[in-house]
Amino acid sequence: MQNIMLYDTVNEGNVAKMVREFYAILVEDDLVGPYFVRALGADLKNEKWYEHYQILNKFWLMLMNGEPGYFGDPFGPHAFLGELKSETFERWLELFKELSNKYYTPEIADKFYRKSEILAKQFIERLEITGEEDE
Ligand code: HEM
Repeated sequence: MQNIMLYDTVNEGNVAKMVREFYAILVEDDLVGPYFVRALGADLKNEKWYEHYQILNKFWLMLMNGEPGYFGDPFGPHAFLGELKSETFERWLELFKELSNKYYTPEIADKFYRKSEILAKQFIERLEITGEEDE
């Protein structure tokens, strides 16, 4: 799963590639996939997905490089996806970690991971997911 050449900078081109591949992986995942299919549909080439990629590209360029361009509220949509569990976030993080290491040098992949972990924790707190009520 390792690329021969790892990117040592984050730019629009490589972020866009990773974002696309990430969601192709997520929709196939039995835990995380259904949330995306419900919200955006099963066709990864439809308009909603296209818009999602554009938003996420800008989101990552802001978080990683401080580039302006993302004006959204990352938390907002997650409040309306149905019940999200902590293990769903854990799976998301695990798949993201794996993929960011396929694209980027370890330093950059770690930074991606740290950023996403902070957000996942905030989402879990704000959504009041305890992880204890799971059967
Ligand atoms: C359980 C894990 C997650 C699931 C199932 C999930 C699902 C989704 C879905 C379905 C959308 C699109 C909603 C819509 O447009 O109607 C979305 C948007 C988004 N997600 Fe997640 N997500 C998860 C975790 C995360 C994490 C950890 C991050 C941050 C690193 C993140 C960042 C975002 C951002 C930035 C948006 C776009 C928000 C906007 O419209 O401005 N998500 N997510």
